[in-house]
Amino acid sequence: MYCVRKVTDDIYWVGGNDRRLMCFEGVYDVPRGVSYNSYLLLDEKTVLFDTVDKAVAEVFFENVEHVLAGRTLDYVVVHHMEPDHSATLCELVRRYPDVKIVCNSKMVTMIKQYFTFDIDSHAVVVDEGGTFSSGKHSFTFINAPMVHWPEVMFTYDAAAKILFSADAFGMFGALDGALFADEVDFERDHLDEARRYYTNIVGKYGLQVTNALKKAAAFDIQMVCPLHGYVWRKNIGWFIDKYMKWASYEPEEKGVVIAYSSVYGHTANAADTLACLLGEQGVKTVVYDVSVTAESYIISDIFKYSHVVFAATTYNMGVFIKMENLLHDLVEHGIQNRSTALIENGTWAPQSGRLMKELLSSCKGFRFLNEKFTLKSSMKEEQMGDLRALADTIAQTVKNE
Ligand code: FEO
Repeated sequence: MYCVRKVTDDIYWVGGNDRRLMCFEGVYDVPRGVSYNSYLLLDEKTVLFDTVDKAVAEVFFENVEHVLAGRTLDYVVVHHMEPDHSATLCELVRRYPDVKIVCNSKMVTMIKQYFTFDIDSHAVVVDEGGTFSSGKHSFTFINAPMVHWPEVMFTYDAAAKILFSADAFGMFGALDGALFADEVDFERDHLDEARRYYTNIVGKYGLQVTNALKKAAAFDIQMVCPLHGYVWRKNIGWFIDKYMKWASYEPEEKGVVIAYSSVYGHTANAADTLACLLGEQGVKTVVYDVSVTAESYIISDIFKYSHVVFAATTYNMGVFIKMENLLHDLVEHGIQNRSTALIENGTWAPQSGRLMKELLSSCKGFRFLNEKFTLKSSMKEEQMGDLRALADTIAQTVKNE
């Protein structure tokens, strides 16, 4: 059965929700599912904005057929060729053989790579600043390379003052009936998943995100329609401000993430002791065991907070593998501008402090608050003074930065 919602008088959400997906992109767990958004405009011409992942193909095609109500589909605008938005494009062409595909030249290449249908006979190739009219609505296309692939573009609809923003302003989490962000308590219930989506999916491309948002700012935007998650029609500036912070690698809040790896609990004990010392000073602190919590959640919180402490065992003369993976992933996501401290552990030859510092050496704007704090197997009473001094240094910089 079709499952649609009205976005405006003549634009409909015709996407779908997937709550069975184990791993988005094969990497990120999505315990609350994910939505694949597609929008259908009924103007003098009918225009579909993007298709969906194959997982929700059945309901998507029912939605499109229902909203078209016997009309044909004249155009589909492609904003992003990643298959979570384009996997059903070939089937769309099979069902609507006269449809024109509005896309840029990079997308034509990718369509040929993914599919075998004759794209050249369907393509209407547009470029930066190009325009197109469907009747009452006229559109301007804005290239947004690397948000999150090189071919990505946004579309601005001047009649509805809508920005179709591709992956930008998306989030993890299915749409549970609500379509607009103002229909839910977004900050309380969804901001964390929006941050986890942004930081892990496009976190590496902060500069490109900033550039795309600056270009989009030239338009009078009253609504944002992303490819995942809620449509924004109120408080858009609040969410854009979050994006600008994430894209510029500035923390949202003062606080400390302590991420530890611990084989027998002794490094965990030091991490918890440090957390207590920080808590006594009123410093907001969150503690993660990297063997238990998926990297994407920890990376998201490292983007959120101003400080991060890494505490790791030495393992096979290297950094414990779960911590090593986290640090590689973090570096790959381009994290910058954090104050950090290191705790290492090793029973006979502690190495993890030096190695963690080397792994983080390419992060711009990282400020190391200590050389390292070394445990030989377990925390001892005589080390409490040094750990307290480290907590004092962290707390002071949290308060003063
Ligand atoms: Fe939602 Fe980059 O795809």
